[in-house]
Amino acid sequence: SQIEKGGFPHFTLKEIFEQPKSLRDAMRGRINAEKNHLVLGGLIEYQQKLINADRIIILGCGTSWHAGLVGEYLFEEFARIPVEVEYASEFRYRNPVIREGDVVIAISQSGETADTLAAVELAKSKGAIIFGVCNVVGSSIPRATHAGAYIHAGPEIGVASTKAFTGQITVLTMMALIIGRAKGTITESKFQELITELTTIPDKVEYILHKVDSQIKYIAEEFKGARNFLYLGRGFNFPVALEGALKLKEISYIHAEGYPAAEMKHGPIALIDENMPVVFIAPKDSTYEKIVSNVQEIKARKGRIIAVVNEGDKEIKDLAEFTIEIPQTHEAFSPILTVIPLQLLSYYIATHLVDDVDKPRNLAKSVTVE
Ligand code: G6P
Repeated sequence: SQIEKGGFPHFTLKEIFEQPKSLRDAMRGRINAEKNHLVLGGLIEYQQKLINADRIIILGCGTSWHAGLVGEYLFEEFARIPVEVEYASEFRYRNPVIREGDVVIAISQSGETADTLAAVELAKSKGAIIFGVCNVVGSSIPRATHAGAYIHAGPEIGVASTKAFTGQITVLTMMALIIGRAKGTITESKFQELITELTTIPDKVEYILHKVDSQIKYIAEEFKGARNFLYLGRGFNFPVALEGALKLKEISYIHAEGYPAAEMKHGPIALIDENMPVVFIAPKDSTYEKIVSNVQEIKARKGRIIAVVNEGDKEIKDLAEFTIEIPQTHEAFSPILTVIPLQLLSYYIATHLVDDVDKPRNLAKSVTVE
């Protein structure tokens, strides 16, 4: 009903706009930057296993798998642990190698996805210690795992996952920082600096939502007739390119592909002409100069460039048809910010094309059968 949607036309939009709150809730009682404190209560009993892990295997489906990919970069960066991110549906039907010292993290908004649950059971039968990163309290995956941390995003009704994605990344970030601090792969002063920055993220999300909303409505109007989109990002924002493309496919039925920006040379660049919108996720991070070259390559082939950049950006602004500006943060936290405009873009394009954005055809919120 209209009341449940809190005045928004769809749950999807309501949930996008809820993210400042859902992210504060994900951190509540867990981080205190002044006290240099970061604790995830649900991990404690098995935390040493995580800290000593030789390898982390992350399992998920759909958007949760994309959050897992961001997790790979986070655990590598802060905890110096090798990570493999697997589609649960593939993992469960292989004969996966699980060794002593391997730790599994299962990510699932619903906690009920059949493939993820089956993958958890398989890993458990092979002796792995398993952590859950879920939203729905008391659901099957949290019950099947040894330990875990809820993302506390509140009910997510829109089929396209939005606030769960940013909540999952936030919890994975906290896990990586806890391990990194315990292992000493991040110094105490760096740790302090990082948790201070992490606690500013909800405010930055709030700022972005208000700043870019009407601009993105305009861009959506401009591109609602496109039949294909390409999303490109590098490093921490490569998974965001995948997620941006998935959002568009799910709710607007426009074909979209996400790619690592450098990899486009090996195929997608053949598709570029004056009808192809290309969304770059290009904040000023360690990959920035490289991505500027990729923007130039698209420009030279007359692709229509939309770029998510940091405030004050000049180089990409000169090349792109539209730039969406967001504030700076540590590069490891940037996916939580860069995905926000992409969620809005999909939503506003979808409103022109699809009857019920909250319930796209053929999709289910939770895939509880194979
Ligand atoms: C379905 C949903 C997606 C979700 C995926 C995994 O496909 O439509 O939004 O990302 O399942 O769901 P989970 O609940 O395990 O995160």
